[in-house]
Amino acid sequence: MKKDAAILVVGGAGYIGSHTVRQLVAAGRKVVVLDNLVYGHADALVDDAVIFIEGDLGDRAVLDRVFTDHAISAVMHFAAYAYVGESVTDPAKYYGNNLAAPIVLLDAMRDHGVEVFIFSSTCATYGNPQYVPIDEQHPQNPINPYGASKLMLERVLADYSHAYGLKYAALRYFNAAGCSLDGLIGEDHNPETHLIPLVLEAAAGVREHITVFGTDYPTPDGSCIRDYIHVNDLARAHILAIDRLRGGADSFKCNLGTGIGHSVKELISAAERVTGKSIKVVLGERREGDPPELVAAPALAKELLGWEAEYKDLEMILKTAWAWISGPHKGHF
Ligand SMILES: NC(=O)c1ccc[n+]([C@@H]2O[C@H](COP(=O)([O-])OP(=O)(O)OC[C@H]3O[C@@H](n4cnc5c(N)ncnc54)[C@H](O)[C@@H]3O)[C@@H](O)[C@H]2O)c1
Repeated sequence: MKKDAAILVVGGAGYIGSHTVRQLVAAGRKVVVLDNLVYGHADALVDDAVIFIEGDLGDRAVLDRVFTDHAISAVMHFAAYAYVGESVTDPAKYYGNNLAAPIVLLDAMRDHGVEVFIFSSTCATYGNPQYVPIDEQHPQNPINPYGASKLMLERVLADYSHAYGLKYAALRYFNAAGCSLDGLIGEDHNPETHLIPLVLEAAAGVREHITVFGTDYPTPDGSCIRDYIHVNDLARAHILAIDRLRGGADSFKCNLGTGIGHSVKELISAAERVTGKSIKVVLGERREGDPPELVAAPALAKELLGWEAEYKDLEMILKTAWAWISGPHKGHF
């Protein structure tokens, strides 16, 4: 492996990928980004040092060019479709992009002698929790094709690791949240389905109200509880994971979360404090497939990576997201 080889970040123009690219560059790593811009934003790649290639990860000819033209030592794979509802109505789209396409990428890596792979997995692979906090031994019974496509790729990785010597980390994120501290890049999904940007857009007056889906869950205030993990904490874990695998450690799978749960109602109150605005709330029915509580047991990431969340304060996370949503760069990146 060449010392000055680059890390290939697939899906690096997306939300979590673009924040990770910035951290990689700040850490002095060379970065090549491959993204087809189906959901990403080329302007989110704010560092001139980044080489950007527009292309699809399932396109073998593109991949051969990338691996031939650039010395690549490891791949971070963020690219996927991630709309749970759509995965139920159009599973082919999800198994195609989240499972079949990455297998093309893994085979190209194999042929070009690249052995290290970091995979954006998800707590959605666990399905309805049997206990909380959820540790890595929790059974994985996804309840929608999105979660199933991620679990299937985890399985492919285990088999490729066993048969071909692939070194991988499957990082199971809980709810990614927050934005870069300088407000330069942020969360810009279209359509947006994540709670924090929706709540903050309601605070900014871009949306009329926020709907709380379900107020009769068996939680202290009746609304769902989630574990919000800052995007910079996620990014840092990826760099630690690459370094661990390159240092000779075995492949591994671990949760990335804070271990702290916040209810939807709690989050809305915190957003009102952070923004100084009152937010119109509509109380709605439960949505199908929303478990009452998803909170990570994060101990394994600490043991393996020496990693734990730095952003444990929800208001701090919200402040970073608000800097982006209320700042001059949203819509421009
Ligand atoms: N956001 C979360 O809370 C969360 C939680 C758990 C897991 N994840 C996973 O993390 C990853 C990143 O999530 P995100 O929120 O940054 O999503 P995102 O949509 O912002 O980023 C995904 C990027 O991948 C690109 N992409 C998609 N398909 C591609 C393809 N075939 N070829 C090339 N590029 C392609 C998109 O253009 C986009 O830039 C996803 O795999 C997602 O499933 C996200």
